[in-house]
Amino acid sequence: MNISNILVVGGGIMGRGIAYAAAVKGFDVTLTDISSDVIEGARSEIASFVEQGVNRGKIDPDEGKEVQSRVTYTTDLQKGAESADFVIEAVPEKLEIKKQVMETLDRVVDKNVILATNTSTMSPTEIGSFTKRPENVIAMHFFNPVPKMKLVEIIRGLETSDETAEITEAVARMMGKETVVVNEFPGFVTSRISCLVGNEAFNMLMEGVGTPEEIDKAIELGLNYPMGPFKLGDIVGLDTRLRNLEYLHETLGERFRPSPLLRKYVKAGRLGKKTGKGVYDYTSTEQVSETLTK
Ligand SMILES: NC(=O)c1ccc[n+]([C@@H]2O[C@H](COP(=O)([O-])OP(=O)(O)OC[C@H]3O[C@@H](n4cnc5c(N)ncnc54)[C@H](O)[C@@H]3O)[C@@H](O)[C@H]2O)c1
Repeated sequence: MNISNILVVGGGIMGRGIAYAAAVKGFDVTLTDISSDVIEGARSEIASFVEQGVNRGKIDPDEGKEVQSRVTYTTDLQKGAESADFVIEAVPEKLEIKKQVMETLDRVVDKNVILATNTSTMSPTEIGSFTKRPENVIAMHFFNPVPKMKLVEIIRGLETSDETAEITEAVARMMGKETVVVNEFPGFVTSRISCLVGNEAFNMLMEGVGTPEEIDKAIELGLNYPMGPFKLGDIVGLDTRLRNLEYLHETLGERFRPSPLLRKYVKAGRLGKKTGKGVYDYTSTEQVSETLTK
């Protein structure tokens, strides 16, 4: 196995983190998105990840320049596809988008190349069925923020070959990550638990059990979670959280019914850190909640 060129499709929160984590470990990366604004945002965020690494003494300045030069940015998917020997898809959690992207990748990327999907909840078996190479399709679930989070949860679809699972695990390790390989079921291990806790927190907020600060503090200090559910939800993106819950509600039933209050936040455009406001307000220096409770 000789993997040196990774194509990352989707330059949003996850795609840019994955691109950076791969480039830091020496991979050449092409990052592609349909939006040139997103591509420019990714370029400047990756530059700021490098700068933070240099400031913390984790990367020396010359190495920092090399990391940046290893990432190519483009809105032309075809460009990165020709040289790719491993692909990680990080487009939105919507089946029709995943389908369209996987069908395109299947056409333009060499047929032996693995197509890994960074889905949070969806079936790698179904995503694999959109291609003519289901044995080379697998879910590679990274966590946010990618540069900091240690785990990659790897999920085999029905047709995923042993070789694909082994290579994907090796790539994740080469990116400096720990891995678990689990069997497919909606939400896998981590999203299923995280969605349940995050949704219940919104129900508690709606019921007036406590403020976001109080609920987060109770979960952090009482249950020893490193981060409360609202802080985490704001990082994940409340729209992404809602889409994941809708999928789990559809596949696993009532206990995943999205909280009406979560829907209200999404309708208001309060999607979390990425829009400046979610449950908490990130537009002022102090992080305070301005709570919608009903
Ligand atoms: N946000 C998280 O915390 C998190 C964690 C783990 C996994 N995920 C999963 O990662 C995936 C991406 O999530 P995200 O939070 O980065 O979303 P995001 O909305 O921040 O980014 C998705 C990007 O994909 C781009 N895109 C849309 N259609 C495209 C296409 N046809 N070709 C290329 N790019 C296209 C969009 O322009 C956008 O920039 C989802 O499947 C999500 O469930 C998210």
